[in-house]
Amino acid sequence: MTENDFLPIQYDNLPAEGKVAWKAPSNIALVKYWGKKANQIPANPSVSFTLDACATTTTIFFSRKEDDSQFSFDLVFEGEPKEDFKPKIQTFLERIEIYLPFLKSYHLKIETSNSFPHSSGIASSASGMAALALCLMDMEKMMNPEMDSDFFNRKASFLARLGSGSACRSIEGDLIQWGEHQPIVDSSNLYGIKYPFKVNTVFKNFHDTILLVHKGQKQVSSSGGHNLMHNHPYAERRFEQAHEHLDSLKAIFSEGNLERFIEVVESEALTLHAMMMTSMPYFILMKPDTLQIINKIWDYRKKTKTPICFTLDAGANVHLLYPESVKEKAIQFIQDELVAHCENGHYICDRIGTGARKIG
Ligand code: DP6
Repeated sequence: MTENDFLPIQYDNLPAEGKVAWKAPSNIALVKYWGKKANQIPANPSVSFTLDACATTTTIFFSRKEDDSQFSFDLVFEGEPKEDFKPKIQTFLERIEIYLPFLKSYHLKIETSNSFPHSSGIASSASGMAALALCLMDMEKMMNPEMDSDFFNRKASFLARLGSGSACRSIEGDLIQWGEHQPIVDSSNLYGIKYPFKVNTVFKNFHDTILLVHKGQKQVSSSGGHNLMHNHPYAERRFEQAHEHLDSLKAIFSEGNLERFIEVVESEALTLHAMMMTSMPYFILMKPDTLQIINKIWDYRKKTKTPICFTLDAGANVHLLYPESVKEKAIQFIQDELVAHCENGHYICDRIGTGARKIG
Protein backbone atom coordinates (compact mmCIF):
# COMPACT_ATOMS: atom_id res chain seq x y z
CA MET A 1 0.00 0.00 0.00
CA THR A 2 1.11 3.57 -0.57
CA GLU A 3 0.28 6.83 1.20
CA ASN A 4 -2.48 7.46 -1.35
CA ASP A 5 -4.39 4.39 -0.18
CA PHE A 6 -4.99 6.17 3.11
CA LEU A 7 -6.63 9.22 1.54
CA PRO A 8 -10.30 9.08 2.49
CA ILE A 9 -13.40 8.64 0.40
CA GLN A 10 -16.08 11.34 0.31
CA TYR A 11 -17.97 11.27 3.63
CA ASP A 12 -21.77 11.27 3.36
CA ASN A 13 -22.57 11.78 6.95
CA LEU A 14 -20.73 13.93 9.48
CA PRO A 15 -22.25 13.28 12.93
CA ALA A 16 -23.11 16.41 14.94
CA GLU A 17 -21.35 15.14 18.05
CA GLY A 18 -20.19 12.01 19.77
CA LYS A 19 -17.60 10.24 21.87
CA VAL A 20 -14.90 7.67 21.13
CA ALA A 21 -12.52 5.98 23.57
CA TRP A 22 -9.56 3.61 23.22
CA LYS A 23 -6.90 2.06 25.42
CA ALA A 24 -3.59 1.46 23.62
CA PRO A 25 -0.55 -0.32 25.06
CA SER A 26 3.11 0.56 25.00
CA ASN A 27 5.57 -1.73 23.22
CA ILE A 28 9.17 -2.79 23.68
CA ALA A 29 11.39 -3.16 20.62
CA LEU A 30 13.57 -6.26 20.26
CA VAL A 31 15.20 -4.92 17.08
CA LYS A 32 15.38 -1.17 17.57
CA TYR A 33 14.21 1.71 15.40
CA TRP A 34 16.91 4.37 15.68
CA GLY A 35 17.36 6.76 12.77
CA LYS A 36 14.70 8.08 10.43
CA LYS A 37 14.19 9.87 7.13
CA ALA A 38 11.66 12.59 6.25
CA ASN A 39 7.98 11.91 7.02
CA GLN A 40 8.69 9.45 9.80
CA ILE A 41 10.18 6.81 7.49
CA PRO A 42 12.43 4.50 9.56
CA ALA A 43 16.05 4.02 8.52
CA ASN A 44 15.81 0.31 9.40
CA PRO A 45 13.14 -2.27 10.20
CA SER A 46 12.21 -3.06 13.79
CA VAL A 47 10.17 -5.67 15.67
CA SER A 48 8.53 -5.36 19.08
CA PHE A 49 6.53 -7.12 21.74
CA THR A 50 3.26 -5.32 22.37
CA LEU A 51 2.85 -4.77 26.12
CA ASP A 52 -0.26 -5.10 28.23
CA ALA A 53 -0.23 -3.17 31.52
CA CYS A 54 1.60 -0.03 30.39
CA ALA A 55 -1.07 1.76 28.40
CA THR A 56 -2.73 5.07 27.59
CA THR A 57 -6.48 5.55 27.73
CA THR A 58 -7.88 8.35 25.59
CA THR A 59 -11.42 9.64 25.16
CA ILE A 60 -12.42 12.25 22.59
CA PHE A 61 -15.70 14.15 22.88
CA PHE A 62 -16.32 15.79 19.51
CA SER A 63 -18.83 18.37 18.32
CA ARG A 64 -19.36 20.05 14.95
CA LYS A 65 -18.32 23.69 14.70
CA GLU A 66 -19.15 26.45 12.19
CA ASP A 67 -15.66 27.71 11.44
CA ASP A 68 -13.61 24.97 9.78
CA SER A 69 -10.54 27.07 9.01
CA GLN A 70 -8.47 25.80 11.95
CA PHE A 71 -8.07 23.01 14.47
CA SER A 72 -9.78 23.42 17.80
CA PHE A 73 -9.08 21.13 20.73
CA ASP A 74 -8.72 21.02 24.51
CA LEU A 75 -6.38 18.62 26.19
CA VAL A 76 -6.96 17.17 29.63
CA PHE A 77 -4.19 14.93 30.98
CA GLU A 78 -4.94 12.93 34.12
CA GLY A 79 -7.78 15.27 34.97
CA GLU A 80 -5.87 18.56 34.48
CA PRO A 81 -5.70 20.84 31.41
CA LYS A 82 -2.27 20.34 29.88
CA GLU A 83 -1.10 23.24 27.72
CA ASP A 84 2.46 21.99 27.20
CA PHE A 85 1.30 18.81 25.38
CA LYS A 86 -0.73 20.86 22.91
CA PRO A 87 1.98 21.80 20.37
CA LYS A 88 2.80 18.11 19.80
CA ILE A 89 -0.87 17.33 19.19
CA GLN A 90 -1.25 20.39 16.94
CA THR A 91 1.71 19.18 14.80
CA PHE A 92 0.22 15.70 14.69
CA LEU A 93 -3.17 17.02 13.54
CA GLU A 94 -1.49 19.10 10.84
CA ARG A 95 0.43 16.06 9.58
CA ILE A 96 -2.60 13.80 9.40
CA GLU A 97 -5.16 16.30 8.15
CA ILE A 98 -5.01 15.20 4.52
CA TYR A 99 -5.85 11.66 5.64
CA LEU A 100 -8.71 12.78 7.94
CA PRO A 101 -10.07 15.97 6.35
CA PHE A 102 -13.00 16.22 8.76
CA LEU A 103 -10.71 17.22 11.64
CA LYS A 104 -11.17 20.99 11.30
CA SER A 105 -14.94 20.60 11.25
CA TYR A 106 -14.95 19.53 14.90
CA HIS A 107 -14.02 20.80 18.30
CA LEU A 108 -12.22 17.95 20.09
CA LYS A 109 -12.06 17.53 23.84
CA ILE A 110 -9.24 15.04 24.34
CA GLU A 111 -9.01 13.38 27.77
CA THR A 112 -6.03 11.13 28.27
CA SER A 113 -4.30 9.27 31.07
CA ASN A 114 -1.54 6.70 31.46
CA SER A 115 -1.59 3.53 33.53
CA PHE A 116 2.00 4.23 34.58
CA PRO A 117 3.20 7.28 36.50
CA HIS A 118 4.07 10.22 34.25
CA SER A 119 7.44 10.62 35.92
CA SER A 120 8.46 6.97 35.55
CA GLY A 121 10.81 7.58 32.64
CA ILE A 122 8.57 5.34 30.52
CA ALA A 123 7.94 7.00 27.18
CA SER A 124 4.23 7.53 26.68
CA SER A 125 4.49 8.67 23.08
CA ALA A 126 3.93 5.18 21.62
CA SER A 127 0.80 4.35 23.62
CA GLY A 128 -0.38 7.99 23.59
CA MET A 129 -0.17 8.48 19.84
CA ALA A 130 -1.63 5.01 19.20
CA ALA A 131 -4.65 5.73 21.43
CA LEU A 132 -5.18 9.12 19.79
CA ALA A 133 -4.90 7.68 16.25
CA LEU A 134 -7.40 4.93 17.14
CA CYS A 135 -9.91 7.46 18.50
CA LEU A 136 -9.62 9.54 15.33
CA MET A 137 -10.02 6.42 13.19
CA ASP A 138 -13.14 5.56 15.16
CA MET A 139 -14.53 8.97 14.21
CA GLU A 140 -13.72 8.24 10.57
CA LYS A 141 -15.42 4.86 10.85
CA MET A 142 -18.65 6.60 11.90
CA MET A 143 -18.47 8.52 8.63
CA ASN A 144 -17.50 5.44 6.61
CA PRO A 145 -19.12 2.43 8.32
CA GLU A 146 -18.11 0.09 5.49
CA MET A 147 -14.45 0.23 6.55
CA ASP A 148 -13.16 -3.25 7.48
CA SER A 149 -11.09 -3.94 10.58
CA ASP A 150 -7.86 -4.72 8.68
CA PHE A 151 -7.94 -1.35 6.97
CA PHE A 152 -8.95 0.34 10.24
CA ASN A 153 -5.93 -1.09 12.06
CA ARG A 154 -3.56 -0.41 9.19
CA LYS A 155 -4.61 3.20 8.86
CA ALA A 156 -4.50 3.66 12.65
CA SER A 157 -0.91 2.37 12.59
CA PHE A 158 -0.11 4.63 9.61
CA LEU A 159 -1.46 7.70 11.43
CA ALA A 160 0.14 6.78 14.77
CA ARG A 161 3.51 6.57 13.00
CA LEU A 162 3.13 10.18 11.92
CA GLY A 163 2.80 11.09 15.63
CA SER A 164 5.67 8.93 16.88
CA GLY A 165 7.42 6.20 14.90
CA SER A 166 7.25 3.45 17.51
CA ALA A 167 3.52 4.19 18.06
CA CYS A 168 2.73 2.35 14.81
CA ARG A 169 3.69 -0.87 16.66
CA SER A 170 1.15 -0.22 19.45
CA ILE A 171 -2.11 -0.95 17.62
CA GLU A 172 -2.12 -4.74 17.48
CA GLY A 173 -0.31 -7.57 19.27
CA ASP A 174 1.55 -9.60 20.06
CA LEU A 175 4.65 -9.31 17.92
CA ILE A 176 4.72 -6.41 15.47
CA GLN A 177 7.15 -5.66 12.67
CA TRP A 178 7.59 -2.24 11.06
CA GLY A 179 9.83 -1.13 8.22
CA GLU A 180 10.66 -2.58 4.83
CA HIS A 181 12.58 -5.81 5.01
CA GLN A 182 12.83 -7.76 1.79
CA PRO A 183 12.15 -11.30 3.16
CA ILE A 184 8.92 -10.08 4.79
CA VAL A 185 6.81 -9.43 1.72
CA ASP A 186 4.09 -7.38 3.39
CA SER A 187 6.50 -5.26 5.44
CA SER A 188 6.14 -1.51 5.05
CA ASN A 189 7.80 1.71 6.14
CA LEU A 190 4.33 3.20 6.51
CA TYR A 191 2.76 0.96 9.18
CA GLY A 192 3.34 -2.02 11.43
CA ILE A 193 2.15 -5.54 10.60
CA LYS A 194 1.75 -8.67 12.68
CA TYR A 195 4.97 -10.66 12.51
CA PRO A 196 4.11 -13.08 9.70
CA PHE A 197 6.30 -16.13 10.43
CA LYS A 198 6.00 -18.97 12.91
CA VAL A 199 6.43 -18.01 16.57
CA ASN A 200 7.06 -20.71 19.18
CA THR A 201 4.68 -20.72 22.15
CA VAL A 202 7.54 -19.83 24.52
CA PHE A 203 7.36 -16.29 23.09
CA LYS A 204 3.58 -16.08 23.45
CA ASN A 205 3.52 -15.29 27.15
CA PHE A 206 6.76 -13.51 27.75
CA HIS A 207 7.13 -11.14 30.69
CA ASP A 208 8.67 -7.68 30.74
CA THR A 209 9.45 -6.29 34.19
CA ILE A 210 10.46 -2.66 33.84
CA LEU A 211 13.04 -1.64 36.42
CA LEU A 212 12.64 2.09 36.99
CA VAL A 213 16.24 3.17 37.43
CA HIS A 214 15.77 6.84 36.72
CA LYS A 215 12.45 8.63 36.61
CA GLY A 216 13.69 12.07 35.64
CA GLN A 217 13.54 13.84 32.30
CA LYS A 218 15.95 12.45 29.67
CA GLN A 219 18.70 14.82 28.59
CA VAL A 220 18.18 14.01 24.87
CA SER A 221 14.75 13.33 23.35
CA SER A 222 14.16 10.39 20.99
CA SER A 223 13.68 12.80 18.07
CA GLY A 224 17.00 14.45 18.89
CA GLY A 225 18.68 11.05 19.03
CA HIS A 226 17.19 9.89 15.72
CA ASN A 227 18.49 13.04 14.06
CA LEU A 228 22.02 12.32 15.22
CA MET A 229 22.00 9.17 13.05
CA HIS A 230 22.36 11.48 10.02
CA ASN A 231 26.08 11.63 9.20
CA HIS A 232 26.78 9.20 12.03
CA PRO A 233 30.03 7.30 11.31
CA TYR A 234 28.51 3.87 11.99
CA ALA A 235 24.95 4.43 10.80
CA GLU A 236 25.00 2.46 7.55
CA ARG A 237 26.53 -0.62 9.16
CA ARG A 238 24.05 -0.36 12.03
CA PHE A 239 21.08 -0.24 9.63
CA GLU A 240 22.38 -3.38 7.90
CA GLN A 241 22.81 -5.08 11.26
CA ALA A 242 19.13 -4.46 12.09
CA HIS A 243 18.20 -6.35 8.90
CA GLU A 244 20.57 -9.18 9.85
CA HIS A 245 19.11 -9.39 13.35
CA LEU A 246 15.59 -9.50 11.97
CA ASP A 247 16.68 -12.34 9.68
CA SER A 248 18.21 -14.32 12.52
CA LEU A 249 15.06 -13.90 14.61
CA LYS A 250 13.10 -15.91 12.05
CA ALA A 251 14.66 -19.23 13.11
CA ILE A 252 14.90 -18.13 16.75
CA PHE A 253 11.18 -17.36 16.96
CA SER A 254 10.23 -20.52 15.15
CA GLU A 255 12.44 -22.86 17.20
CA GLY A 256 11.96 -21.07 20.51
CA ASN A 257 15.73 -20.74 20.84
CA LEU A 258 16.08 -18.62 23.98
CA GLU A 259 19.86 -18.63 24.01
CA ARG A 260 20.10 -17.01 20.60
CA PHE A 261 17.12 -14.75 21.35
CA ILE A 262 19.04 -13.35 24.32
CA GLU A 263 22.11 -12.72 22.14
CA VAL A 264 20.17 -10.73 19.55
CA VAL A 265 18.06 -8.77 22.03
CA GLU A 266 20.93 -7.73 24.30
CA SER A 267 23.11 -6.87 21.33
CA GLU A 268 20.34 -4.64 19.97
CA ALA A 269 19.98 -2.84 23.30
CA LEU A 270 23.69 -2.19 23.64
CA THR A 271 24.05 -1.21 19.99
CA LEU A 272 21.29 1.39 20.44
CA HIS A 273 23.21 2.93 23.32
CA ALA A 274 26.53 2.58 21.46
CA MET A 275 24.99 4.68 18.67
CA MET A 276 24.18 7.36 21.23
CA MET A 277 27.69 7.29 22.64
CA THR A 278 29.22 7.58 19.16
CA SER A 279 26.93 10.39 17.90
CA MET A 280 28.24 13.93 17.58
CA PRO A 281 27.35 15.36 20.02
CA TYR A 282 27.65 12.13 22.04
CA PHE A 283 25.54 11.33 25.04
CA ILE A 284 24.89 8.58 27.59
CA LEU A 285 21.41 7.71 28.83
CA MET A 286 22.41 4.74 30.97
CA LYS A 287 23.02 5.41 34.66
CA PRO A 288 25.41 3.58 37.01
CA ASP A 289 22.48 1.46 38.24
CA THR A 290 21.64 0.47 34.64
CA LEU A 291 25.11 -1.09 34.34
CA GLN A 292 24.93 -2.68 37.76
CA ILE A 293 21.67 -4.36 36.80
CA ILE A 294 23.11 -5.59 33.49
CA ASN A 295 26.11 -7.10 35.29
CA LYS A 296 23.87 -8.78 37.84
CA ILE A 297 21.72 -10.25 35.07
CA TRP A 298 24.82 -11.65 33.37
CA ASP A 299 26.15 -13.14 36.62
CA TYR A 300 22.79 -14.63 37.51
CA ARG A 301 22.37 -16.15 34.06
CA LYS A 302 25.83 -17.65 34.15
CA LYS A 303 25.28 -19.15 37.61
CA THR A 304 21.72 -20.38 37.22
CA LYS A 305 21.31 -20.85 33.43
CA THR A 306 17.95 -19.07 33.77
CA PRO A 307 16.97 -17.49 30.42
CA ILE A 308 16.48 -13.94 31.67
CA CYS A 309 17.76 -11.06 29.58
CA PHE A 310 17.49 -7.30 29.30
CA THR A 311 16.68 -4.69 26.77
CA LEU A 312 16.79 -0.91 26.98
CA ASP A 313 14.91 1.84 25.24
CA ALA A 314 16.11 5.41 24.96
CA GLY A 315 16.57 5.88 28.70
CA ALA A 316 18.13 4.43 31.84
CA ASN A 317 15.35 1.97 32.74
CA VAL A 318 15.97 -1.72 32.20
CA HIS A 319 13.37 -4.06 30.68
CA LEU A 320 13.85 -7.55 32.07
CA LEU A 321 12.51 -10.13 29.60
CA TYR A 322 11.78 -13.74 30.56
CA PRO A 323 9.44 -16.60 29.68
CA GLU A 324 6.49 -17.64 31.85
CA SER A 325 8.31 -20.84 32.92
CA VAL A 326 10.86 -18.88 35.00
CA LYS A 327 8.50 -16.27 36.40
CA GLU A 328 8.87 -17.20 40.09
CA LYS A 329 12.66 -17.32 39.87
CA ALA A 330 12.74 -13.98 38.05
CA ILE A 331 10.60 -12.23 40.65
CA GLN A 332 12.78 -13.63 43.43
CA PHE A 333 15.91 -12.44 41.62
CA ILE A 334 14.41 -8.98 41.14
CA GLN A 335 13.49 -8.70 44.80
CA ASP A 336 16.77 -10.08 46.08
CA GLU A 337 19.18 -8.27 43.79
CA LEU A 338 17.68 -5.71 41.46
CA VAL A 339 15.14 -3.68 43.45
CA ALA A 340 18.05 -2.00 45.24
CA HIS A 341 19.00 -0.36 41.94
CA CYS A 342 15.53 1.01 41.19
CA GLU A 343 14.58 4.56 42.15
CA ASN A 344 12.53 4.23 45.36
CA GLY A 345 12.48 0.47 44.72
CA HIS A 346 9.95 0.91 41.93
CA TYR A 347 9.37 -1.52 39.07
CA ILE A 348 6.40 -2.41 36.86
CA CYS A 349 5.40 -5.98 36.01
CA ASP A 350 4.20 -6.14 32.44
CA ARG A 351 3.82 -8.88 29.85
CA ILE A 352 3.23 -9.39 26.18
CA GLY A 353 -0.24 -8.23 25.15
CA THR A 354 -2.76 -8.52 22.36
CA GLY A 355 -3.09 -4.88 21.30
CA ALA A 356 -5.36 -1.88 21.72
CA ARG A 357 -8.99 -2.10 22.84
CA LYS A 358 -12.01 0.06 22.15
CA ILE A 359 -13.52 1.02 25.48
CA GLY A 360 -16.36 3.30 24.56
C1 DP6 B 1 14.72 3.65 21.30
O1 DP6 B 1 9.22 6.34 18.35
O2 DP6 B 1 10.00 7.65 20.37
O3 DP6 B 1 12.40 3.32 21.69
O4 DP6 B 1 9.48 8.71 15.91
O5 DP6 B 1 10.81 10.53 17.01
O6 DP6 B 1 8.67 9.73 18.05
P1 DP6 B 1 9.87 9.36 17.22
O7 DP6 B 1 10.73 8.33 18.07
P2 DP6 B 1 10.28 7.15 19.00
O8 DP6 B 1 11.65 6.30 19.02
C2 DP6 B 1 11.72 5.11 19.73
C3 DP6 B 1 13.09 4.63 19.79
C4 DP6 B 1 13.35 3.43 20.67
C5 DP6 B 1 13.43 2.15 19.85
C6 DP6 B 1 12.14 1.56 19.37
O9 DP6 B 1 11.10 1.68 20.04
O10 DP6 B 1 12.20 0.89 18.32
